[in-house]
Amino acid sequence: MLKTQEYIAANREKNLGELLELLKIPSISADSKYAPDVAKTADWVAEKLRLAGADNVKVYPTEGHPIVYGEKIIDPKKPTILVYGHYDVQPPDPLELWESPPFEPIIKKTELHPEGAIYARGSCDDKGQVYMHLKAFEAMMKQGEMPCNAKFMIEGEEEVGSPNLGRFIVTHRDMLKADVVLISDTSMIANDCPSIDTGLRGLSYMEVTVTGPNRDLHSGVYGGAVANPANILAKMIASMHDENNHITIPGFYADVVEVTPAERAALAEAPFDEKAYMKDLGVNAVWGEKGYTSSERSSIRPTLDVNGIWGGYTGEGAKTVLPSKAFAKISMRLVPNQTSAKISKLFEDHFKSIAPPSVQVKVDYHHGGEPVVTPIDSVPFKAASMAMQKTFGKEPIPCRGGGSIPIVALFEQELGLKSVLFGFGLNSDNLHSPNEKFGLFNFYKGIETIPYFYQYFTELNAQ
Ligand code: BES
Ligand code: MN
Ligand code: MN
Repeated sequence: MLKTQEYIAANREKNLGELLELLKIPSISADSKYAPDVAKTADWVAEKLRLAGADNVKVYPTEGHPIVYGEKIIDPKKPTILVYGHYDVQPPDPLELWESPPFEPIIKKTELHPEGAIYARGSCDDKGQVYMHLKAFEAMMKQGEMPCNAKFMIEGEEEVGSPNLGRFIVTHRDMLKADVVLISDTSMIANDCPSIDTGLRGLSYMEVTVTGPNRDLHSGVYGGAVANPANILAKMIASMHDENNHITIPGFYADVVEVTPAERAALAEAPFDEKAYMKDLGVNAVWGEKGYTSSERSSIRPTLDVNGIWGGYTGEGAKTVLPSKAFAKISMRLVPNQTSAKISKLFEDHFKSIAPPSVQVKVDYHHGGEPVVTPIDSVPFKAASMAMQKTFGKEPIPCRGGGSIPIVALFEQELGLKSVLFGFGLNSDNLHSPNEKFGLFNFYKGIETIPYFYQYFTELNAQ
C-alpha cells in the first residue's frame, strides 16, 4: 500500500476541496423542499465514484431519495467489501445557533481538533466519512493496488429511517453479494484513542397526541375545571421513568440481554472522563439509570426520551389559553434482544392505559430499527483492528455505540452479512447539533487507514 499512501499524501488538498464542494449541497432528506438538492448530491457522489474508478455506477431511484451504487470487481475469486454510507444529512435547525452557515463549510481549529476541523452539516455524519472511502478507493485504483473487490452503496434516506433501503437490498441480492459490509458512520473515543464500535442500538420512534376540549379555551374562564392536555401529557411522560430512572412500561426490559460482568469490565477499560464530559455538555451532573455508568447508560442500556414536545401558545409574549391538544415525539433506544415492533406496541398500550378519562390519546409509529452486536473475534474485526493499529500506532478499543443505523440489522438478516463499524468521527463532533464538525486529522486518517483494511481483510481471508 506504499504507492497508495503516496497518492493519498499528494492529494490531501484536492480531496479536502472536493469534500467542501459536497458539503455545500444541502441534502436534507427530511424536508421535501430539498429533494432536488438530495438528487443533485446523489449525482455528484455517483460522478466521483465513476472518476475514482468504479464500474456500473448507477443512481437508483426509489420511492424516496435515490441510492448510489458502483463496484469494482478485480477478480471474482477475491473477497468483496460492500461499503455502505449515507449522503443525506439532518436538518440544520436551529439555524441561529450555528456560528457559520451550515452549508458554507469553513475550517477552524479547536481544542480537540488542533489541526483544524471542517464545520458544516454532514461533515462527520456522514458525507465526510463516506468521502474517505471514495478517496481511499481512488488511491488504490490509480496506483494499481486494489487487493480485492469493492462495492459501494450510498443511500440518501438514512436520516429518515431508510424507508426504501430494506426493499432495495432484497431486490438486489445478487448485485450486493459480498463478504462483509464496511461502514464509517460511527465515532471513536478520541484522536489519540482509536476504538471500534461493536454494536448499535435499535430504535422505536413514536408520536403522541393528547386531546382535551374540542377547542382552545380561555384559561381563566375554563382553567381549573377542564383537563389541560399539556399538563396531562407532561405528567404521563414524567411517569414513564421511576425514581431509579428505570422505564416503567410493563415488559419493557423483558427481552433485554444483561451484559455479563466480564463484558462490563472490558467495556469499562475504555477511558471516560466524566468531568470533561459534563464540561463539554455544560451540565453540572449526569443523569441516568441507577446501577450503570454514563458509558453504559448510553450504549448497553435502553432509553426513552422526548425529542420534541409542543402544544398551545408558543409565540412571543404571553397568551392565556388552555390548549385543545398537546403533542410529543418520543423515541426509545433499544438493545439486544428487544425488537422495535414489540416495544412500540408496549409503548402504545401503556400510553393509552395511563391516559385519564378527561383526554383522548392517539399514538402513531414513526420509523424503527433493530439493535445489533458485532463479533470481535471475526476476520473483519481483526482486519479493522490491524488497520487502525497500523495508522494510529495503537490497538483500537472495542466499544458499544449508542446510535442507530437501521439497515445494519437487515444486512445480517436479509443478506447474511456482518458489518464492521469503522468510524473516524468523535461523539463531540456535534452530529445532529448546530456546528457539526469533522477533524481534518480524522478525514485524512480515515483515508489512510481504509486501504489497510482492504489489504488485511484480503490477506486474512486467503489464510
Ligand atoms: N451515524 C448515525 C448513527 C451513529 C452515530 C451511530 C454515532 C453511532 C455513533 C446515523 O446517521 C444516525 O443518526 N442514525 C439515527 C437513526 C435514524 C433512524 C434516524 C439515530 O441514531 O438517531
Ligand atoms: Mn450517520
Ligand atoms: Mn445521523
